[in-house]
Amino acid sequence: MTFSRDLRYRPYQDWTTEEKNKIKANVNKSPWHANYHIEPKSGLLNDPNGFSFFNGKFHLFYQNWPFGAAHGLKQWVHTESDDLVHFTETNTRLLPDNPNDSHGCYSGSAYEIGSKLFLFYTGNVRDENWVRTPLQVGAWMDKEGNISKMDTILINQPSDVTEHFRDPQIFSYQNQFYVIVGTQSLDKEGFIKVYKAEQNDVNNWTFIGNLDFDNKGHAYMIECPNLVFIDNKPVLIYSPQGISHDELDYNNIYPNAYKIGQSFDTSIPKMNQVSSIQNLDYGFEAYATQAFNAPDGRALAVSWIGLPEIDYPTDRFDYQGALSLVKELTLKDGKLYQYPVDSISTLRSKQQEFGPQEKTSNCYELELHIPKEEKSILKLFADNKGNGLSLTVDSSNGFITLDRSQVGEVFGQEYGTIRKCPIENKAITLNIFVDNSIVEIFINKGEKVMTSRVFPEQDQSGISIISGNITGHYFELN
Ligand code: FRU
Repeated sequence: MTFSRDLRYRPYQDWTTEEKNKIKANVNKSPWHANYHIEPKSGLLNDPNGFSFFNGKFHLFYQNWPFGAAHGLKQWVHTESDDLVHFTETNTRLLPDNPNDSHGCYSGSAYEIGSKLFLFYTGNVRDENWVRTPLQVGAWMDKEGNISKMDTILINQPSDVTEHFRDPQIFSYQNQFYVIVGTQSLDKEGFIKVYKAEQNDVNNWTFIGNLDFDNKGHAYMIECPNLVFIDNKPVLIYSPQGISHDELDYNNIYPNAYKIGQSFDTSIPKMNQVSSIQNLDYGFEAYATQAFNAPDGRALAVSWIGLPEIDYPTDRFDYQGALSLVKELTLKDGKLYQYPVDSISTLRSKQQEFGPQEKTSNCYELELHIPKEEKSILKLFADNKGNGLSLTVDSSNGFITLDRSQVGEVFGQEYGTIRKCPIENKAITLNIFVDNSIVEIFINKGEKVMTSRVFPEQDQSGISIISGNITGHYFELN
């Protein structure tokens, strides 16, 4: 299904109730809905936005075009949570209803200031010739979820960047507000601009400089940059589009990556002693991850389980995309770990010893142990014809492989049907979260992560063990 530009940018108020009901009815027909992941009520979900803590709760928005599985006139949809596992979608929306965001409320962040939540986002504006002007704009959300937009443009497009200038992330460092914005230089190199709020007033931003983070590899654009601090070390999470494969080994259309620094110098601004670039996720789908430091100091992250420019089997049901579980970020031995927040264990209901199963609910967690130097092969979403999502753990050869060529509806083949994650030759623990059409695999409690979609046939819900000595537990999840 293709949507014309006119349809994708049709004002929200022009969609009739009948049209909207038809879309919702179609969404409901899908056999692939997730049980414990955030999905759009309708249309396309992309980036997590405004992930924050405000008024005693966590808040998380998602980018959405509600009228079909396409990138159209974007809004933010609000959800809130007490425990980072159960989220409730409210009626609050950041709507593209203002001259400063006429062609979409693009991605951004949020921060509690006084008694309100400050939303910092990109207003996507196009003129009659479809020439884009990206504006960094703001809004305030009160405790009742009412949003009022600020009239002024907080940051205008600088003269040294193209129309690609977006995704402001506000953060506080040493009691001073900063914002970083992803962008593209006039000679088509991706980089990150840093601004600070004068006197901590979010109405008043001054440019400090371009972030020095030992940026190599010629990305042509950096989307969704996030800086979080873990044990006082700056960790940059970003989406460097088009980065060279010599610099970063990746197979997805665009990678999601990170770098760890040892300290942060706000005056240059610079991350000091920066690590080489690493893949944040080794699966088929994880992009535009958003992270923030919660008031208790934890660094928390959520990813879009999806990618730009890929068609998904759910498209014919008028929706696409999901958000990952909330992952806590920590540093161990200089490495970034990502693991679901503790409260995820509240979803566990029945527990049993791990073994083959002909039929599961496709809604479970596995905690598995695989000895060093064992090659183990496992199939999830398995049927009795030998099909399934194949997971090979081969520590002596140093990798874990995920092969989705033999499961359900195959899609996105142009980027391959296999993903490989390098591992060390040691005993491996896997925590695998399966949710109907989503699988999130955490290796060694978050040392590496593989996040993917699969769209199984109705009879593909088994677990088969092809080879190896795998022990552990199966937990049914609520
Ligand atoms: C990343 C992205 C952002 C942009 C948003 C628009 O997926 O392209 O850079 O703000 O999506 O929906």
